Amino acid sequence: MSAWTQETVARLVRYAQLSPSADNMQPFCFQWDGRQLRIAYDQGRVAGHTFGPEAPATLLSLGTTVEAIEQATRLWNHPATFAPTFHDTPDGFEYGALQLEGELPPESGQPLPDPIRHTDRGRYSRRELPSALVQRLRAGVQGGCRMAVHSDRASTRAIAALVQSASELRFQTPELHAWLMDSLRFSEDAAARGDGLDVRTLGLPPGGALMLRCLGNWRRMAFFNRLGGHRAMAGIDAAPVAKAPAVVAVIGPDDRDGALDAGRLLYRGWTWLNEEGVAVHPYYVVSDQVQRLREGSMPQALRERAQRLQAETARQMQLAPGEHLYMLLRVGYAKAAPTPSRRLPLSRVFEVRGGE
Ligand SMILES: Cc1cc2nc3c(=O)[nH]c(=O)nc-3n(C[C@H](O)[C@H](O)[C@H](O)COP(=O)(O)O)c2cc1C
Repeated sequence: MSAWTQETVARLVRYAQLSPSADNMQPFCFQWDGRQLRIAYDQGRVAGHTFGPEAPATLLSLGTTVEAIEQATRLWNHPATFAPTFHDTPDGFEYGALQLEGELPPESGQPLPDPIRHTDRGRYSRRELPSALVQRLRAGVQGGCRMAVHSDRASTRAIAALVQSASELRFQTPELHAWLMDSLRFSEDAAARGDGLDVRTLGLPPGGALMLRCLGNWRRMAFFNRLGGHRAMAGIDAAPVAKAPAVVAVIGPDDRDGALDAGRLLYRGWTWLNEEGVAVHPYYVVSDQVQRLREGSMPQALRERAQRLQAETARQMQLAPGEHLYMLLRVGYAKAAPTPSRRLPLSRVFEVRGGE
């Protein structure tokens, strides 16, 4: 038997850090006091640069993080469970903690293999998914959440039309434009910081990075939009969805627990796909625009179009009353290996308080 040490907990946090987040902004920080590993929103580092602490996007990411840590502790034969608390503290919003104390079995605490899950925004072939995998995804549940798999061409085209509409709204929203531009890392030095979106991971066409750099200024983007730029940009976003062999939708109850459960299920389904060699490209844009409409942050001029998107999403996704579409995943067999995304140094997100 051995005890939990700073080193073993650091291994868990590193594993958790490799879970996905919107624009790879890694909104969480982790504190260990020798007994509990607390997870909080890293207010000082990310506030104003990405979604807020209680936004569904952040809770989705929290769900993936919690699922990753719990899976890792199971690999160590010492299952730990996340206990949510969801409360404000003077340092920022705290989500809850895992109890990591007492003795560990001898094999625990060993280095963990990196999770296989990753994003691939490249081109996919039209090869169909194995039916056993489709069945596994359809049978996957967490709380009230489920996954729907759409593989017929009419459905993937209809979903691409949702992505097109949502993405047009996104490119006309100054706040979202600012966040995206803030997160983009154009040079090796900028990418080496370890957060944000390294443009090499975006699968852009030739000249795409230069174009994004030129559009970094909102006034230029607004001018470009007057020429129909938002439609062209959205078209680049949506076209691969129409051609994908399948799109997976993560759907669940429209509340805080639903978002957390959706994140857990997202992580699980994504891992199952990657384990079978199937690439995954998440699209949050539809969920995001619907959410912005509901919370009242959709610009007035875009509201009517957002309402149509909301109605069409509910119809296309066959959402029951009280259900929300949390995520769309374009899935298929990749034609080339993707550039992996990076992470912040552990020291930026992990703190030991009090001592072991
Ligand atoms: C809530 C959430 C929203 C995301 N939205 C998108 C998206 O709209 N488009 C996209 O390409 N990737 C999206 N991602 C994927 C992240 O950008 C990706 O996980 C992150 O860059 C880390 O890369 P990795 O998944 O390869 O580890 C999203 C991830 C999460 C958790």
